[in-house]
Parts: sequence; structure tokens; C-alpha cells
Amino acid sequence: MILCANFKANKTRQETRAYMAVVESFVFANEIRDTVIVFPPFTALEHDPRNVLIGVQNAYPALKGAFTGEITLEQLDEFDVKTILIGHSERRHILGETQEEIAQKFRFFAQEGFVIVYCVGEPLEVREAGDEALMAYVDAQYVGIDLTYPDLIIAYEPVWAIGTGLVPTNDQIQAVHASIRAKTSAPLLYGGSVKVENAQEIMALSNVDGVLVGSAALSASDFCEMIAQATELTTKGE
Ligand code: 13P
Repeated sequence: MILCANFKANKTRQETRAYMAVVESFVFANEIRDTVIVFPPFTALEHDPRNVLIGVQNAYPALKGAFTGEITLEQLDEFDVKTILIGHSERRHILGETQEEIAQKFRFFAQEGFVIVYCVGEPLEVREAGDEALMAYVDAQYVGIDLTYPDLIIAYEPVWAIGTGLVPTNDQIQAVHASIRAKTSAPLLYGGSVKVENAQEIMALSNVDGVLVGSAALSASDFCEMIAQATELTTKGE
């Protein structure tokens, strides 16, 4: 299983340090073999994660240069960051990133060998328009993306489920994941209002290889609980 915590624009450097100490020691003490990735804000990047991968929530596709307000490869290299989230719905919808820009970002960081957590997901009106419209919408989010990239992880995050407490039914999650699975062998995460109370049930669904968690992962103890749930499932499956 793969468990990701996306802090978004939450937590200070100090708070992130305290959080990482809890999660690092939990992963170490419990000999967790599932993959744990934390995406803190840029200001909280540190040099020395040991048992947990650190990724960034965004970066500009260039080595360095005149890109005011952006972070590029040179700065990520300084922190040994080799994991990135691309295509998150907040970047698509709030920051206005186009599919073309997203694809360019994907190509650049794939070329640099990054682990890429690539997000797709539909807004409510598309979900309400039916399965065909939904899959056509999600398919359009793959334009320019190499689905055979070996370090690709895909996260299906319906926009209407993010931060709302709404979650698709198990059947809806499985249906979308099955159709993504038909296109790629990349691990598939589900994201959108995942919390301690529903994480294990979601992770147990077919074609769900982990979760991408926002608000509920801001609590280190809740995130550790979800890691423990994943490990329980992994151990059961062995
Ligand atoms: P929530 O878990 O807060 O719904 O956010 C999901 C998300 O966007 C993770 O990237």
C-alpha cells in the first residue's frame, strides 16, 4: 500500500518537524513496509527523512531561472526531493493549470526520474452527467501523460469529494479504478475525504493500492492509524 499525506498550505516548519518525528518513529518502530509519502509546504522541507519519503506539492519544470515565485529542480535537489504531486485539482481549478502545462511538468520531472503522484478526478456536474461523461473527462486528464512511466502513481480524487466529507460509494470508486487500471499498471490511490473511519474499507477495494489524504492526515496520530490499517491489510493479503 501507498499512503500519502498532502498538507496543502497547512503547517509551519516547526509543526512539520514535530509531525515528522511522530510518523518517522511510528514507521520505524512498527517496521512498516508500506510506502509512506508526506507532501509538506516548501517552507518545511528538511534534509533528513529516513523511513518516509518527502515530496513536493508542485514545482516549475526548469532547472532554474527567471520564474518569479516558483521553485525549480535546483532547489529540490538541495533537499534531495525526488517525489512530486502533479495535476492536483486545486492546482487545476484554483491556480488555473491547463492540461498542457501539467503535461509539460510531467515530462520534465519524468525525465529527471521523479516519483510522480499524478492526480485526476471529476467535478460534481461531470459525475452527475453519468459514467460515460465521467470517463471521458478523466481520459482528457491523461493527454500528454506517459502512462507507462515506471515511477508513476495515479491518484483518483473526485473534486466534489475533496475536503467535503462526501465520499463516492465503494462501487463508484471500484468502477473508476477498474477503468483506469485497464489503461495502466501504475499503482492507483483514492483521495477525497479519506479518514480513519473509512480508510481501511477504501484500501480493501479492488484496484485501490493506497490513499492520498488531505485534512485527516494533518493529525500525525490519525495518519499513523491509517498506516497501521494499511499494514494490517497488507499482512492479511500475504
Ligand atoms: P481531503 O482529504 O481533505 O478531502 O483532501 C484530499 C486531497 O485533496 C488530497 O490531495
